[in-house]
Amino acid sequence: MQTIDPRSNSDDRPQASSTAANGEASDRNAVATSNQVIDQASPKTKSKSGFDVRRASPNPNHWYVVALSSELQEKPLAVTFWGEAIVIYRDSKGQVHALEDTCPHRFVKLSHGCVVGDHLECAYHGWQFNDQGNCAVVPYLAENQKLPNCQIKRYAVQDLDGFIWLFPGDLALAEQVEPMGVPEWDHLNYIASVTTIDTEAHYSYLIENLMDMYHGHLHDNYQAWASASLLNIEASDRRVDAHYEAQSYYRIDKIWSVSQLFFPQLRRLHPEPLDVSYVYPHWASRLGDDFKIFCLFCPVSPTHTRAYLLHFTSLNAFWRLHKLPVPFRRFVKNLLFNAARGLLEGLVVQDVVMVEEEQQAYLKNPSLKSFELNKALGAVQKLIRQQSESI
Ligand code: FES
Ligand SMILES: [Fe+2]
Repeated sequence: MQTIDPRSNSDDRPQASSTAANGEASDRNAVATSNQVIDQASPKTKSKSGFDVRRASPNPNHWYVVALSSELQEKPLAVTFWGEAIVIYRDSKGQVHALEDTCPHRFVKLSHGCVVGDHLECAYHGWQFNDQGNCAVVPYLAENQKLPNCQIKRYAVQDLDGFIWLFPGDLALAEQVEPMGVPEWDHLNYIASVTTIDTEAHYSYLIENLMDMYHGHLHDNYQAWASASLLNIEASDRRVDAHYEAQSYYRIDKIWSVSQLFFPQLRRLHPEPLDVSYVYPHWASRLGDDFKIFCLFCPVSPTHTRAYLLHFTSLNAFWRLHKLPVPFRRFVKNLLFNAARGLLEGLVVQDVVMVEEEQQAYLKNPSLKSFELNKALGAVQKLIRQQSESI
């Protein structure tokens, strides 16, 4: 783990860097999945190393979040990871499976079909596939015919902490990599709120937005803190932890302080640590002991990212509450579920406008130089590059 002092800058002037990492220009071949829009917009220039963070492929050998557990019911669900169409479904026991979303018979989407027992049935001619991706039933198979020996790709997938986690990479590696998980989702001491982010932008723009607490300027009246200041950064080949200090005006043990969120003139500020982490490929943050926010990523394509934004309010300060019967605590948790959703949605709307404008500016001119002062973003780009190049 490397520690970076954000203030130790040999050059304190704004640093000119291109939208590509390390000030490098774009490379038409850097992204494995082709993208029409990008290809049309890219100039014929190449950087020395050929790496462009704005088109960097995500490392598929990690667990990505593709749905809320509650979104996957009896009907199969179509999801996309970096251009790959994948169908997820539950078998008769509720177990989740993931297969390539293409029927090998006539190449239509299996997600149009339905689940029959433990098989996924194609809508077109009713061929059925087992969870290994083998054809198991053809309803009109003649006695002298054999089942077609076709196999579709299968993926490791799991239902954990309220979400469906997919491992799009090498099946053999899935057991060696731990999903980040969000144990707060089911924990009785945390009140959860969740919303989705669906943005026409490369995932690097979204993670940089989330790691750069100086963009609190954009949200001003929507959040419980102000005046963030970066203290230090720790970086490794798996994560980046940026430690800020912020001024907060909300304490969870003083419920009345919520009024400060709505009436700025009432605000009484106190310093709180604000820690944000890029736990590749996801984002985790905490403000003091009271709030945790997570963003669970699914890069859909080089210019489209889906994510779930989760907000947890801790009830740890209310020690009397912990002595109450579990069913009552569960009732309180469920009753307050999504209490902060409106707030989250307001933040997302503001952020999406910004990251999509960044994406558009890039598409218009990929070699445009930007000025970045926050060293956390350099560490984020370095991690994206390490992960992308490790494929
Ligand atoms: S296309 Fe799927 S069964 Fe024919
Ligand atoms: Fe934001």
